[in-house]
Amino acid sequence: MMGYNPVIDINTGKEVVPSKEPKNLIMNGQIQAGVTLTDNKLVFTTKVLPFAQGDADTAFTLIGTAMCYDQIGQDVAFANCTEEPQFVSLNSSQVFAAFAGETVSKRHVDSVTFDTCVECHGKDFVLHNKYGHPGFVMNDSMGQIVNDKLEVGVDSCVSCHTPYGTYASGANKGALEMKLHKTHMEKAYSLVGGDCSQCHVDFNLNAFKDKGPLATEANLYTSPITATCTSCHKPEYMGHTPEQLESFGAVIAKDFMTAKENSQSETCFTCHKPTITDHRIIRM
Ligand code: HEC
Ligand code: HEC
Ligand code: HEC
Ligand code: HEC
Ligand code: HEC
Repeated sequence: MMGYNPVIDINTGKEVVPSKEPKNLIMNGQIQAGVTLTDNKLVFTTKVLPFAQGDADTAFTLIGTAMCYDQIGQDVAFANCTEEPQFVSLNSSQVFAAFAGETVSKRHVDSVTFDTCVECHGKDFVLHNKYGHPGFVMNDSMGQIVNDKLEVGVDSCVSCHTPYGTYASGANKGALEMKLHKTHMEKAYSLVGGDCSQCHVDFNLNAFKDKGPLATEANLYTSPITATCTSCHKPEYMGHTPEQLESFGAVIAKDFMTAKENSQSETCFTCHKPTITDHRIIRM
């Protein structure tokens, strides 16, 4: 997984995680620099990817199509994209590639599916048209087959909502495990509150075993369970003090390498047994 910005080890000054590569293929009718049209296909070559076994065995590309429009009174017309464009997203798809000899690893979609979002936001819900990140449509081609059934999850969101945050490197709590919690606590508390089943069909707590730390402040990282719980629970109402959390194995707001080395020590689930119908369950 690669973020918007490279991750630097503060002790050595070395880049430990390179940045991902976003690219406009066509803008305002023009094929962009570095892109060619060959056999009716747009071709663009990325830099060498840091492919490896284990966590880095899969690369994926998310491709979106959007048009800019102008609205004057009742009239709407397609237009060139200007500095503050309004976008309509048309289509998107994703493509996976695996490191030699490996099969592609995909993110779990058994926890949150897009159907649940649609129940509140409606069938035509399109994300991010106000930002410069358009073209993102949750159609069937964004789905995975799980137990013979097509499930459209929110896995592709991690192409931008990475563990390293988005462009603000964690200052916006951009990682997917935090982003939806934070947004809905702030913008829709009365609707969502502590009812996890509004979005979750289940929790996938095993997924934490494969997770490193998440960027919770600009370039500062927190162990994954604590980061996820504190995306809703503010430290001041946490029930545990930061020192208590650390005694339960949490790493809170440390540099990336320190957090990474210690991110698998959390013992939260020895006491907390959250389910989507009651996440407050504690059994010691
Ligand atoms: C229980 C109803 C409910 C569910 C379920 C729900 N949302 Fe929301 N969501 C809201 C409300 C209410 C708001 C705040 C009003 C608004 O901005 O539209 C909101 C805000 C948002 C925003 C910010 C919109 C903006 O323009 O600032 C995004 C993005 C979003 N939701 C995405 C999702 C996704 C993705 C899911 C599914 C994983 C989801 N929501 C599930 C009710 C819900
Ligand atoms: C092409 C990149 C990109 C993709 C793909 C993407 N996002 Fe975002 N998203 C952003 C950026 C950049 C921001 C603004 C910075 C931030 O909040 O971290 C943002 C902001 C948000 C916010 C906060 C918006 C608000 O008004 O509070 C939510 C919620 C969100 N994204 C959910 C999602 C979900 C869910 C998906 C997948 C269905 C998704 N995003 C896919 C780039 C992306
Ligand atoms: C607005 C939608 C929304 C609501 C409501 C919500 N979550 Fe989440 N949650 C998400 C998204 C999206 C993810 C990221 C899924 C992924 O990693 O692919 C997530 C991930 C998690 C994870 C990480 C493990 C997993 O299953 O992927 C935990 C734990 C979690 N949420 C706890 C909660 C708890 C506890 C509540 C209720 C108090 C809650 N969530 C309510 C959207 C939501
Ligand atoms: C989507 C937001 C959200 C997430 C994520 C979330 N919580 Fe909560 N939690 C709440 C809200 C809101 C309440 C209070 C309302 C209620 O009791 O349902 C609460 C209440 C609790 C309580 C009961 C507190 C008391 O004093 O009775 C416990 C325990 C708890 N959460 C633990 C956790 C743990 C552990 C995690 C991470 C695995 C977590 N929560 C993640 C929103 C969240
Ligand atoms: C030894 C058992 C135990 C362990 C380990 C533990 N907790 Fe708790 N936790 C509790 C109890 C008991 C409560 C109920 C509130 C209280 O009395 O402090 C609680 C409450 C909470 C709450 C809700 C706080 C509130 O009142 O709003 C959150 C969130 C939480 N714990 C997160 C965590 C996280 C994250 C970890 C791991 C780093 C963790 N806990 C480890 C026992 C534990």
